[in-house]
Amino acid sequence: MSREDFPTSLVMVNSDNKLIGHCKISPVPNVSDSCFVESVVIDKRCRGKGLGKLLMMKTESYVMTCGKSTIYLSTKGQEIFYTKLGYAVCEPVTIYGTFQRSSDDEQSRCTSPTSGVEAAPVITVQFKKPPVPPPPPPSRNFGNRGADKTFMKKVLTPSETT
Ligand SMILES: CC(C)(COP(=O)(O)OP(=O)(O)OC[C@H]1O[C@@H](n2cnc3c(N)ncnc32)[C@H](O)[C@@H]1OP(=O)(O)O)[C@@H](O)C(=O)NCCC(=O)NCCS
Repeated sequence: MSREDFPTSLVMVNSDNKLIGHCKISPVPNVSDSCFVESVVIDKRCRGKGLGKLLMMKTESYVMTCGKSTIYLSTKGQEIFYTKLGYAVCEPVTIYGTFQRSSDDEQSRCTSPTSGVEAAPVITVQFKKPPVPPPPPPSRNFGNRGADKTFMKKVLTPSETT
C-alpha cells in the first residue's frame, strides 16, 4: 500500500517479492462512501490464474476498511472479468472535480534575519498561481451506446470480501 488515503496504489508481489499486479484507487469527488478503481493490471505472464480476481477481492476488502461501500470503475474489453466479480454496468461517474487550495500557500515570503546585525532589506517574493483550468466537458457515453468505455459499479457487502 502506498498511502493511507486516496488516491493510493495497491501492489501484488510474488514469493520473490517481484511485482506481479497493481491497482490504483481514487476518490470520487463529493461521494464520500465511494471510490474509483482506475487501473487493474496483472503481469502478462501471470494472467489466467485467478490473480486478477484475488487482487480485486483484496482491493474490495481494503476499501471497506477505509469506510467505502461502493466501487466504481470503467473498462474497455474486460466487462466479463468484472461481471464475474459482481460488478454491474452503471451510469458514468467522474473522478475529476474542482478543488480549493488553502490560502496559506498563496504566497511565500523570504525575510532577512534581523538579530545582531544591521537589518538588511526585506525581500518579499510572491508567487501568482495560474487560474485553475475549466473542468472537461461532461461525458456523453451513457451505458454502452456509443461508449468507448463501460462504467461499472459494485456495492460491497462484508461477507463477499472476506
Ligand atoms: C483483466 C486482468 C486484470 C484479469 O486478470 P487475470 O489474473 O487474468 O484474471 P483471473 O485469472 O483472476 O480471472 C478471473 C475470472 O475472470 C475471467 N476472465 C479474466 N479475463 C477475462 C476476459 N478478458 N474475458 C473474459 N473472462 C475473463 C477468467 O476466466 C476467470 O473466470 P472464472 O472465475 O470463471 O474462472 C488481466 O487480464 C490484465 O491485467 N489485463 C490487462 C490490463 C487490463 O485490461 N485491465 C483491466 C482494465 S479495466
